[in-house]
Amino acid sequence: MTIVYIIVFLILLSAVVGSLSAAPWVPTKGKDVGRMIDLANIKSGDKVYDLGCGDGRLVFASTKGGAKAVGVEIFVLPYLYAKIRSFFVPGSKIKYGNFFRQDITDADVVFIFLMEKSYHKILDKFNKELKPGARVVIYCWPIKEWEDKLIEKNKPREVDLPIYSYVV
Ligand SMILES: C[S@@+](CC[C@H](N)C(=O)[O-])C[C@H]1O[C@@H](n2cnc3c(N)ncnc32)[C@H](O)[C@@H]1O
Repeated sequence: MTIVYIIVFLILLSAVVGSLSAAPWVPTKGKDVGRMIDLANIKSGDKVYDLGCGDGRLVFASTKGGAKAVGVEIFVLPYLYAKIRSFFVPGSKIKYGNFFRQDITDADVVFIFLMEKSYHKILDKFNKELKPGARVVIYCWPIKEWEDKLIEKNKPREVDLPIYSYVV
């Protein structure tokens, strides 16, 4: 029985670590996944990252046009779900770990849906690692420091959450 408690504790701990690090697991609404993908303008052969990929929904949707997509997730439950699903989705890869340690220098597109409190750290990473021309697509909260890089804001109706697309 002790082993079960330890496993449950470790799973919960991974959720807490993710929440404190950048955001809790709140999936992008199903109907908004398509809006994210459209805004990202993904082309065949592109390398796509979802930093904090949850159940991998953006990763799997990204591969449809022939792109390679990588998701990195720290919360064990959605990670396991996404990992198993990735075996059946060509072009997708799901990694366990802290996305701040993920090299994204080859990224053509990066998705994030994170809390604003993590932006100063993620911005530092983007400024160091993203190549010119890379696109960053963000759900909900804009990067205020990147106003000059904003190419599109998508919010078709009052009830919709905004999505921001940037080019580095
Ligand atoms: C708001 S959810 C977004 C999930 C997914 N990108 C989507 O759009 O459906 C943020 C995710 O980031 C994960 N996360 C937070 N900090 C992380 C970190 N440092 N490394 C990896 N994943 C992290 C959380 O566990 C959570 O699943």
